[in-house]
Order: sequence, then C-alpha cells, then structure tokens
Amino acid sequence: MIKTIAWKDNKVIMIDQRKLPLQEKYVVCKGYSSVIRAIKDLVIRGAPAIGIAAAMGVALGALRIRTSKMDQFKAKLDVVCGDMTAARPTAVNLAWAVERMRRVVARNSHVEVAQLKSLLVAEAEKILRQDVAVNRAMGRHGQRLLNDRSCVLTHCNAGSLATGGYGTALGVVRAAVEAGKRIEVLADETRPFLQGARLTAWELVEAGIPVTVITDNAAGYFMQQGQVDAVIVGADRIASNGDVANKIGTYMVAVLARTHKIPFYVAAPLSTIDFAIKSGKEIPIEQRDENEVTHFQSKRNTPRGVAAQSPAFDITPHRYVTAIITEKGVVAPPFKTNLRRLVSLKEPSLE
Ligand code: MRU
Repeated sequence: MIKTIAWKDNKVIMIDQRKLPLQEKYVVCKGYSSVIRAIKDLVIRGAPAIGIAAAMGVALGALRIRTSKMDQFKAKLDVVCGDMTAARPTAVNLAWAVERMRRVVARNSHVEVAQLKSLLVAEAEKILRQDVAVNRAMGRHGQRLLNDRSCVLTHCNAGSLATGGYGTALGVVRAAVEAGKRIEVLADETRPFLQGARLTAWELVEAGIPVTVITDNAAGYFMQQGQVDAVIVGADRIASNGDVANKIGTYMVAVLARTHKIPFYVAAPLSTIDFAIKSGKEIPIEQRDENEVTHFQSKRNTPRGVAAQSPAFDITPHRYVTAIITEKGVVAPPFKTNLRRLVSLKEPSLE
C-alpha cells in the first residue's frame, strides 16, 4: 500500500501530492513549521491525513523544544499546537488530532520532559496506526451497501493518500473488491487541484480497480445515462445534524444524485464529526488563492485583472445524504439522534 506519511528517525516523511501522478517525490519535514507549510501547500491533504500530519508536527515541535522545565515546555508546546490547528480551517480532524496531543500533555505533567516527548511521538504514531484500522472497519461496514457489478462515482480523493492508508470512500470500494465484487469507479477530476484525476485515478490504477476519469461537469450526464449506482465521498467535517463539508462540488453531486434517485453515501471516521456545532452553517470554509482558478498548472488561462474565487469546500445539507459510513457502522437518518447514539456505543478495539 502507498505510504502517505511516515515517522522516521525523528522526521516526518510525506509523499508530495502536488507532484503525483507524474512524479513520486517525498518531502522530509524536520521541524513543525515545515509540516504547517506542507499542509497549507497541499503536499499532504485530505482530512484524516492532515490530522496525522498535525499530530506528527506537534511531536516534531516537542522534540525541538530545548528546556527540561515542564512549565516552559508546556508554554512553548502550546504555541506549536495553536499554530498547527490554524494551518487549515475546515477539516476538523486537524484540531481533533492536536487535541489528542494536548491531552497527552495534560495527563503526564508529573513525568520528565524527555519522557513526555517520547509519549508525544508515540501518540502521533498511534493516531496513524488507528486511522488505518478505522478505515478498514469503515470498509467492512460500507461494502455491504454495494452490489456486485456496481459503478461508484466519487468526488475528490478520499483514498489512501487522504488518510494513513486504505482510505474512507475508496476504502469502501477496496473492501467491496476484496469481498469479490466487481466494482468500477467514475472519478470526478475535481478542479482546481485535480485530486480525482491525479490522485484517485493513480491509487485505483495501482490497486487494479477499474477507474474512468470524467470532468466535474460530466457527472450529471453519466447519472442521466443510468451509469451510476452509488455515490461515495469522504468528508472534512460533519455537523451534529449530518450536514457534510467536503470538497467543492460535492453539493452539486449530491443534488444530482437525489434527482436521479442514486444513493449518496458519506464515508468518514467519527473524528470527522463535530458535535460542537449544530449545522453546516457553522463550518468555516477555506478560501484558497485565486491563482488556483485563474491559472492551470501555473499557466494563466483567464484575462489579467479578472476576479476569481476559490472556496475549497462546500456544505451538503443532511437531507441529501442517504447514509454515513463510520468505523462503528452505517448511520441512517435522522442523523441528529443516530450519530449521537452511535458514538455512545462501546468503542471497538481498533489497534
Ligand atoms: O483540499 P483537500 O484535498 O484536503 O480536500 C479533501 C477532501 O475534500 C476529501 O474528500 C476529504 O478530506 C475526505 S478524505 C478521506
């Protein structure tokens, strides 16, 4: 399986997702600031993957703090955690992972600083391991929703590259294939960063799963032709009521799916659910540089001086979501009550 991110010799190594599929290059981060840069520049992207990167970034930051006094260490690490959380605003997994790191500090104030540093590194590595296990569990639950000989449309990349490995939406596809089902995927290209055309297509070609890339504006055409059996996407944040923030364009796909009576599934770990917010209206939407729209692969394709906007995500209201696939099972509407009920179930061990 492709290694999206790894911790090695007190450094963080990430595959450079800006360069795929043409080049397989790795970026090595030695300090926490370079992890923040990598997250902002989309070297690593995808909600669970940036959570893992953030946790590893906090661990790197901790290792570089030069003091043996616990109070000073905590104050400096607090700054690291704050900077890390601010790297990208929409995916809640990032704040969730940093919060896990903060809790390690809170639980271990009595130990030596050197020991606390090791505990922080261990926690970051555990977040990575758990993410893969969570994705496999999601795959096991979600694959039951797919029939043999199905065509799944997906938007953006919610695969190995967006996670610690295996993937969320693509994890469901992988699990269905592992269960012997013949699944093919239609991958929206996902302008402007082309996560679908470059990353989803690359992963699925590597896995030997049939994939066809289509332009974003062709999704309706394929649905109208009766060629799509299900839509599965990932999520960056899910509000308590089931509203879903995901890659810009997801909302259009969901509305189309409803019109064509095609089930619209969201596969996401519980760490993507933000119970602190009631609805999608409260989810901050990252606005990216307008150059991502005015230029294509660094070449301008719009007139100079024209205005452009690049919202990175949109909100799909919960009424368009058929079910949410999590590591604890598949949740059907009403999400407000059913998500809470699911979370209160005893944790399965996903070590
Ligand atoms: O801007 P990106 O590439 O980080 O956006 C990623 C997505 O929107 C994914 O669909 C989402 O994070 C789920 S990844 C399992």
